[in-house]
Amino acid sequence: MAPPWVGAAALLPALSLAAAALLAVAMYALSAVRRNLAVARSYPQPRGVPVLGHLLHVLRPREDLFKMVRAFRRDLGSRFSIVCLFTPSFHISDPEAAEVSRNISKGRAYGFLEPWLGRGLLTSTGARWRSRRKLLTPAFHFRVLDQFTHHLEEHARRLVDDLDAAARAASSAAVDVAPIVSRVTLRAICVTAMGKVSFRTDASGQAMDEGPYFEAIHRMGSATVTRMTRPWLWPSVCFKLSALYKDFVRDLGTLHGFTDRVIAERKAKLPDDACDTGADDEDVRPGRARKQPRPFLDSLLGAQGAGADLTDEDIREEVDTFMFEGHDTTSVAVCWALELLARHPDAQARLAAELSALDALDWESVSRLPYLDRVLKECLRLRPSVPFISRYLEADAVLPDGQPTACRRRALHPHALTVFTGKRFATMELKLLLAAVVRRFHIGAAAEDVRVAAEDMFLADLVLRPRAGVRLRLTARA
Ligand code: HEM
Repeated sequence: MAPPWVGAAALLPALSLAAAALLAVAMYALSAVRRNLAVARSYPQPRGVPVLGHLLHVLRPREDLFKMVRAFRRDLGSRFSIVCLFTPSFHISDPEAAEVSRNISKGRAYGFLEPWLGRGLLTSTGARWRSRRKLLTPAFHFRVLDQFTHHLEEHARRLVDDLDAAARAASSAAVDVAPIVSRVTLRAICVTAMGKVSFRTDASGQAMDEGPYFEAIHRMGSATVTRMTRPWLWPSVCFKLSALYKDFVRDLGTLHGFTDRVIAERKAKLPDDACDTGADDEDVRPGRARKQPRPFLDSLLGAQGAGADLTDEDIREEVDTFMFEGHDTTSVAVCWALELLARHPDAQARLAAELSALDALDWESVSRLPYLDRVLKECLRLRPSVPFISRYLEADAVLPDGQPTACRRRALHPHALTVFTGKRFATMELKLLLAAVVRRFHIGAAAEDVRVAAEDMFLADLVLRPRAGVRLRLTARA
């Protein structure tokens, strides 16, 4: 029998080759890291320390993160970089540079949302993102949205009634409008895009599903921001061992339970003839009847029924995505617009005058109001519902003026982004809700909030959330 070292000697060339390959990979990675860090250094940076980089800036309470980013923007300009543990990120907020990006590879934080949103439209990338986009775009066609106008008008009336009841109960004190607005926008997306008709209430008539759903979304946002800013929580295995994980799992159950019920209800009600996708509705050939595109959930269920490659899990992740995106963005937009109108009584008076000339508060009339349109755009510019997005750079990129971003990551702050998936739906809903509230109430700021600087009201979250609600004094207009 040959001595054992003979076998080992035979392995020696293979082992040396593997070691050389590992060394080459390490050297390549090191040189890539060095190169990326050098490009990051060519951008303005806050003061950092060796190895940790700028991590100590980022390790601060969620309440202070937005203030920090705004201070960097003020002190360093609209392009700066931050490096945490040798990982650079570029923060870009000038519109030309932000808009040039057509990159759809999502940043790391989107992966943190996958247990909740799966690989739906918001979190996915590449071919999957493109095919989902193609499938879902017709569901927000204007012919579908036309079917929603009466629902949205009804929800605008409901919001006013709910605010009226809350203002009466509070007497002359301020009312936190945030939970009231959220409930209406959640119901609006459920009733329209999801075709949901009934909401469970307890014996006292209180909504049973929405409260736990909102609380779970708020905790999900908090856990995601905490994870983004704590590199030791980035690996899943470490996150699973952390104190956050128990609540995270419970909240996932709440969120998925809500959307599962919505899907099951709709499946049960969906008419038998729903087995087509609606995706080819734009393909109208001469002599063929024009098909009516289907609302969002019906088009997904219809496509599945027609044999499209869509599992129940695929449908749930899109419903989760649209349920969250479709209500939380518009809810904070309405709240911040009301808050801004309370701070700017002149603009509020001008808007109220424009609204008082209307005979009826329907989409037909509201869609034609020029000042309302300008107010809404300015509010979204000053308080963007989605204050930042993040993209992972697969390859080097150059900004319009020639500045390189050769590093692997960057974050964009899309104050100037004007196109988003739910834009038409959001515009209808926001205009109707704002018009209804301003027509009925004079809106004043709560005494304790008058002197609070705007940035002290922001909370870093998946949307631009108010830190302590939006407290307003609402008095009926004469
Ligand atoms: C004020 C209202 C809204 C604003 C400011 C807004 C803004 C945005 C922004 C900036 C993004 C890009 C996010 C990213 O890539 O990280 C986005 C994505 C998305 N939004 Fe909205 N949104 C609003 C309302 C809505 C509504 C009402 C819906 C659904 C009805 C919706 C559905 C989506 C979806 C599905 C995505 C992912 C799209 C994709 O990656 O292709 N949004 N939104």
